[in-house]
Amino acid sequence: MPRIRPFAPGDEPALTEICLRTADFGADATGMLTDDAIWAEIFALPYAARHPDLAFVVETDDGRVAGYVVCAPDTRAFEQWFRDEWWPSIAARRPRPESDDDRDAILRYAYERGAEPMPFADEYPAHLHIDLLPELQGQGWGRRLIDALVEALRERGVEGVHLTASVENAGALAFYPRVGFAPLSPDDPGAFGMRLSTRP
Ligand SMILES: CC(C)(COP(=O)(O)OP(=O)(O)OC[C@H]1O[C@@H](n2cnc3c(N)ncnc32)[C@H](O)[C@@H]1OP(=O)(O)O)[C@@H](O)C(=O)NCCC(=O)NCCS
Repeated sequence: MPRIRPFAPGDEPALTEICLRTADFGADATGMLTDDAIWAEIFALPYAARHPDLAFVVETDDGRVAGYVVCAPDTRAFEQWFRDEWWPSIAARRPRPESDDDRDAILRYAYERGAEPMPFADEYPAHLHIDLLPELQGQGWGRRLIDALVEALRERGVEGVHLTASVENAGALAFYPRVGFAPLSPDDPGAFGMRLSTRP
């Protein structure tokens, strides 16, 4: 039986692989970008580096990590850190793209990140990313990962958590309302939030 455990140093290659294999609206994104490792450098590794205590993984019977949830408890502070510290540490080997090549779109996003509005960050300060390899999907591990994260966030007094899924990711849109999230905006059907405090 797989088990959930806290993230540990050394899990990074597994996070990179899982992120890649689920980054195309839930499906395998291998070959979509100029370098497959870019996905995790933006959407998984910075979270595990900055907030390892809010990262949980699913470990299989044979000791492989095949799923994770990562989280930033304070979205505004995290985005500032991403912009000021994390991305500059990566940017030296990932120069800003000069063309409009679609395969560089995510890289362009990384360079702009931290400057865009964060409409849900006041009421739902935390945000998360969750991904499971296909072998673990549909067996309750997503729900258990969310439960583990929510417990950790409550212990820290974080008042709410949100995420934005792509509207093209039908599985994700079905999943979040089943595990306690509510839609946040008719203008953005992929945005979901969960209040964690009892304060109205
Ligand atoms: C989305 C994801 C995290 C869900 O985790 P999971 O372990 O597969 O989901 P669970 O088995 O815990 O399901 C929890 C509930 O959501 C529902 N659900 C999960 N995936 C679903 C899907 N694809 N379609 C419909 N319902 C779904 C389940 O039926 C279940 O509902 P129930 O408990 O009321 O019966 C996982 O499938 C995944 O990693 N997918 C690929 C990457 C991805 O899309 N990540 C999210 C990016 S925003």
